[in-house]
Amino acid sequence: MNILALIALVIAVWIGWRFYSNRHNLPCPAWLSWMVELDNPFAKAHKANEIIQMLPLKNGARILDIGCGPGRVLLPLAKKISLIDGHVTGLDIQADMIKKTRFKAEALGVTNVDFINSSIDEAKIDEPYDIILMICVLGEIPKNDRKSVMQKIARYLQPNGIISITETIFDPHFQSRKYVSEIMHEIGFVENKYIGNRLAYTSHFNKKEDEE
Ligand SMILES: C[S@@+](CC[C@H](N)C(=O)[O-])C[C@H]1O[C@@H](n2cnc3c(N)ncnc32)[C@H](O)[C@@H]1O
Repeated sequence: MNILALIALVIAVWIGWRFYSNRHNLPCPAWLSWMVELDNPFAKAHKANEIIQMLPLKNGARILDIGCGPGRVLLPLAKKISLIDGHVTGLDIQADMIKKTRFKAEALGVTNVDFINSSIDEAKIDEPYDIILMICVLGEIPKNDRKSVMQKIARYLQPNGIISITETIFDPHFQSRKYVSEIMHEIGFVENKYIGNRLAYTSHFNKKEDEE
């Protein structure tokens, strides 16, 4: 196969995956987790340390990382907030992703974490969180379910809590800032912080009533 045919194949898979995901839950498979962990120099706002630096971290912070995948952000975040008595819960629909992250956490001696293996729309969450992260996950939720799923997620947030959403154009499930802001607006949230550009961004949202 020549290089042009290979590029055409990659683009066709990328587009096919994107369109299929609009109707079906087709998560990035665990065997591709090495791709999720690639540090893309063109997507600064998607880098773990940029996402973490932007968070308003307070003592005892409770954070939920929805679609934590292989722990790219969860693990350094847990390490950082262990110094302020914080805790991170990683939630993922794929047991193999959780297995990988749990294994790495144990190897690194990170203990302020726990995991929920569930789809976000079926998760049972009792105690609300200060911060909820959704990094390259929204587009993996079928289009017609996104608003109701976000409404459900909003119920897991403490008063004055934030939902931090990161997207990058290098992910076949990329969702634009405009589209994400519209969904968040419809469920009563406003953007209060943003970093990024057309290639990658992170936006923070809080409830409109918290603004008042
Ligand atoms: C592209 S990966 C991103 C992983 C991680 N957030 C990161 O940025 O490194 C998306 C992750 O979301 C998970 N996911 C997709 N749909 C989900 C759902 N409905 N509920 C929970 N997790 C989901 C997938 O299993 C996958 O691990």
